[in-house]
Amino acid sequence: MATHVCPELSAIKVQTQWREAYADSSDRVALAQAVYRTLFKMAPESANLFHRVNSEEPDSAEFIAFSLRVLNGLDVVITLLDQEKALFAQIEHLHSQHIERHIPPKYASAFVEALHHVLPSVIGHCYDEHAWSQCLNSIAKKILS
Ligand code: HEM
Repeated sequence: MATHVCPELSAIKVQTQWREAYADSSDRVALAQAVYRTLFKMAPESANLFHRVNSEEPDSAEFIAFSLRVLNGLDVVITLLDQEKALFAQIEHLHSQHIERHIPPKYASAFVEALHHVLPSVIGHCYDEHAWSQCLNSIAKKILS
């Protein structure tokens, strides 16, 4: 079932490619660290937002555990791409976890951009950047809004 978040074909592609990168991964920690390393390279000042989870030391236990909680959150969102009501409930839940932090919306696209950099190196050139943008840009914006 398609949702009005993104077209069905894009949702299927994202789910398939995420399964390859994450569910079948032998090293989720490396994946999570690569996403944040890339985000902090693209937007160095964004690291200040993650002070509470020890972003000053991205190899620390606290930051690794945090980054995996985020990828788990992303996993739930992607799993629900074809279940509109549950997807919106999950987005609302994530929104409530971010609202107090007043995170600038520009970081929503920076986060998706970081995925565009990291995921092709894990799953190869079949990575469909357009499908990922279609599905995740608006979700990331809603989470931060
Ligand atoms: C699809 C996009 C995103 C998902 C799925 C997501 C997921 C999550 C989750 C699950 C948590 C709670 C982790 C916990 O239990 O401690 C969290 C916290 C947080 N997220 Fe996100 N997030 C997203 C985008 C972003 C972006 C773009 C930023 C800013 C660059 C951001 C900044 C934060 C911050 C600052 C926290 C709180 C850290 C702390 O505990 O102090 N998130 N996120």
